[in-house]
Amino acid sequence: MKTIIEPFRIKSVEPIRFTTTKERETLLRAAHWNTFRLHSDDVLIDLLTDSGTSAMSAAQWSAMMNGDESYAGSPSFGRFDAAVRNLFDFTHIIPTHQGRAAEAILFSSLGGAGRKVPSNTHFDTTRGNIEATGAEAVDLLVPEGGDPNNLSPFKGNIDLVRLEEFMRDNADDVPCVMITVTNNAGGGQPASLANIKATADIAHAYGKPFIIDACRFAENAYFIKTREEGQRDRSITDIVRDMFATADGMTMSAKKDGLANIGGWLALNDDELAAQARNRLIMTEGFPTYGGLAGRDLEAIAQGLTEVVDEEYLRYRVRTNEYIVERLDSMGIPVIKPAGGHAVFIDARTWLAHIPPLEYPGHSLACALYETGGIRTSEIGTVMFGRHPDGSEHPAAMDLVRLAMPRRVYTQSHADYIVEVFDELRADVGQLPGFEIIEEPPAMRHFTAKFAPLRG
Ligand code: F0G
Repeated sequence: MKTIIEPFRIKSVEPIRFTTTKERETLLRAAHWNTFRLHSDDVLIDLLTDSGTSAMSAAQWSAMMNGDESYAGSPSFGRFDAAVRNLFDFTHIIPTHQGRAAEAILFSSLGGAGRKVPSNTHFDTTRGNIEATGAEAVDLLVPEGGDPNNLSPFKGNIDLVRLEEFMRDNADDVPCVMITVTNNAGGGQPASLANIKATADIAHAYGKPFIIDACRFAENAYFIKTREEGQRDRSITDIVRDMFATADGMTMSAKKDGLANIGGWLALNDDELAAQARNRLIMTEGFPTYGGLAGRDLEAIAQGLTEVVDEEYLRYRVRTNEYIVERLDSMGIPVIKPAGGHAVFIDARTWLAHIPPLEYPGHSLACALYETGGIRTSEIGTVMFGRHPDGSEHPAAMDLVRLAMPRRVYTQSHADYIVEVFDELRADVGQLPGFEIIEEPPAMRHFTAKFAPLRG
């Protein structure tokens, strides 16, 4: 069959509250034109993030009833631990309440002034946790990763030549080498199995641990299966095991490919590092068999990990994004190609070329998507990255809008609706206003800043 259908039936539904364009104009004005300030029940289709927004399966909800809430030694931890080990063969599995907690714990040991941590592209929280210790987070993405129109299959690869040079010059200051799969900050693009293994080889040649930020490991494995030479006949589970076979540790947010609404973990092979991490965990998260989670959360993750490697699910998930990208591309709307694993990215700087970067074209598009169709997205551009610690403001490398797809939540007709909203916007995109920021906090301004349109 040619049609790729949602590989599930729906047993339980959440109603969507419909609003009119007029109402949405009022709501957005009341939210000071910041989509993070909107109430989610005023949103028709919420594409703000794919994190923690998954629909859980009947099997996950029933597993949650078996959650054992004992403080120590809960059998729920045993089931979580076994499910993680089934895919990722590390010596120590340390649960945390979400991904950034695993990062904070890891870099409390590996970070420190003068240290440098290379990766393809660090996600904001990883960068934040590295920099908070005084260390430097260094991005070494392949050049094609920054070109929206380059159709290379693995635009999330680390640049091996630059990594080798970087290690030659800085090895003494490098506590570990990282890679993010898929590369969220770079459009959800995957890294190849060959690139992951070659990165591990370089790290090991310098005696450094290789750590994978694994949030979207299953989506990355699906891209390896469908795009990398010689991988087509392997199961997703087999590819996942191979991706992690040469790693010395991982940080994980189970809010993504754990198919859970909360949770994460840090995995390590090194006994000494794991002992330090557990001590820190006890101070900041909880006892090592619950790590800031309820027993029922551990059960949901354990079951989620058996479902996320299902190939029918991954095919449907990736296909939804490809479909939206193909449709927008055919309408002449600039999108990042190929489609990412978890999101569709619009190149707002190109599409809203009449708005200069310092008047936030991505932000303007995000506001218009909400007003026109009730779709909530987020700007990934000058609002997010433009303000620097010295107080100066500069355009970000790109002004993108991210349509992040929650897992198993929306259907084909929602995808068609999203495309239709873009089609409607096409006619008057040239009239959309630029914005100014009238109030902003000292850091991470995109979450809470207040905006005003410059005209109209
Ligand atoms: N690493 C990557 C690649 C991520 O995308 C995220 C979260 C984290 C680490 C941190 O995990 O949220 O569980 O603490 N990304 C979300 C997003 C927030 O919307 O892209 P967390």
